Amino acid sequence: MKKQIFKLIKEELEREEKTINLIASENYANPDILKATGSIFTNKYAEGYPEKRYYGGCQVVDKVENYAIEQARKLFNATHVNVQPHSGSSANMAVYFSQLKHGETILAMSLSAGGHLTHGHKVNFSGKLFNFVHYGVDPETEMLDYDEIEILVNQHKPKMLVAGASAYSRFIDFARLGEIAEDNNCILFVDMAHIAGLVAAELHPSPIPCAHIVSSTTHKTLRGPRGGFICCQGDFKESIDKSVMPGCQGGPLMNVIAAKAIAFEQAQSKDFKKYQEQVIKNAKIMAKTFKDLGYKIVSNGTDNHLFLIDLRQKNGESFEKITGKLVEETLEKCSIILNRNTIPFDTQSPVNPSGIRIGTPAITTRGFKGKEATQIVHWIDEAIKKRGDEAFLKKLKEIVEVFCKDFPIYPSFK
Ligand SMILES: Cc1ncc(COP(=O)(O)O)c(C=O)c1O
Repeated sequence: MKKQIFKLIKEELEREEKTINLIASENYANPDILKATGSIFTNKYAEGYPEKRYYGGCQVVDKVENYAIEQARKLFNATHVNVQPHSGSSANMAVYFSQLKHGETILAMSLSAGGHLTHGHKVNFSGKLFNFVHYGVDPETEMLDYDEIEILVNQHKPKMLVAGASAYSRFIDFARLGEIAEDNNCILFVDMAHIAGLVAAELHPSPIPCAHIVSSTTHKTLRGPRGGFICCQGDFKESIDKSVMPGCQGGPLMNVIAAKAIAFEQAQSKDFKKYQEQVIKNAKIMAKTFKDLGYKIVSNGTDNHLFLIDLRQKNGESFEKITGKLVEETLEKCSIILNRNTIPFDTQSPVNPSGIRIGTPAITTRGFKGKEATQIVHWIDEAIKKRGDEAFLKKLKEIVEVFCKDFPIYPSFK
């Protein structure tokens, strides 16, 4: 039986090695992170917190969790950190439940403008349990309009203002949002899941000094194991901890917490800063190359690790109903992996939206620099132009796979 899964692990390794990964929320965790995630800490139940557990035998895992907390606090300069959330979504659930009652009002960015499902979408627990009001982006600049957010806060008097996104390519002005929250006596909660690695490297303004609570994932730009964590100011420490456990979760995943500790530690290195600088450089180079080829980049560029392409037009003219789904599927035939995405004010559904999202964290981990990033853009452009030409797409797949061989992700893995 187990043979089947080990065979599939090998198959996935081959897939990852052979394909160019432009999914903005993915990355390649290094062998140390994978080793800790697959370690014997998997075996241990440790409900509670260090030195306050509901199980015996927690001497070693207490040291692991304390070390992870210490590293995260140092990395983000945070007063208090809870490293137990199993994922970004469960971190967000714990944040809402810690501060709000059922039905209370929250203001957040809409999914269609770049926000996340857990920021109040109607199919998600958040949208079902709380009264979400949404802000979007300015129709002209396609960037956040802070005056508009202030007006909405004044109008709806939310108990919580949420910032952070899954598909927004510009810096977020957390200081301004902090002022708006302060003036209106509401809690500022920042979900920095996407940009955590950039914040750690001080290449994106940090939300930590401005927000009451900050949640994140560990597996995107931060390049750790799959998981979440929450930072908060001192006054929120007790309510956050209680909300994570026993409020939303039982036993923490100590193997993952061990791997998070390594990720927090690695993110303090000079190499990590250099890596993040290259992530941003690659995103800027790719966005500019697409622009030079006539594509429309949402908000006309990027400040971070990702950007969106509005596929409804090229060179200012209507672009023959090319959709995100079509581009995603065409590129997959050439071993280039990315995801379709809605763009601001999209009239198409999320299943077949008008855009694609391109991210550079994974290709940069792999060692791609400006030359390779530019090459990928030209391949994408050619594949879109020759999308019906199966022979061309097959040929391009072969070229991409040979190209990938020069940039092994896990050279020591068989
Ligand atoms: C901004 C943001 N928050 C939260 C999440 C949820 O994280 P997870 O998939 O770990 O639940 C994501 C995931 O894409 C995200 O982009």
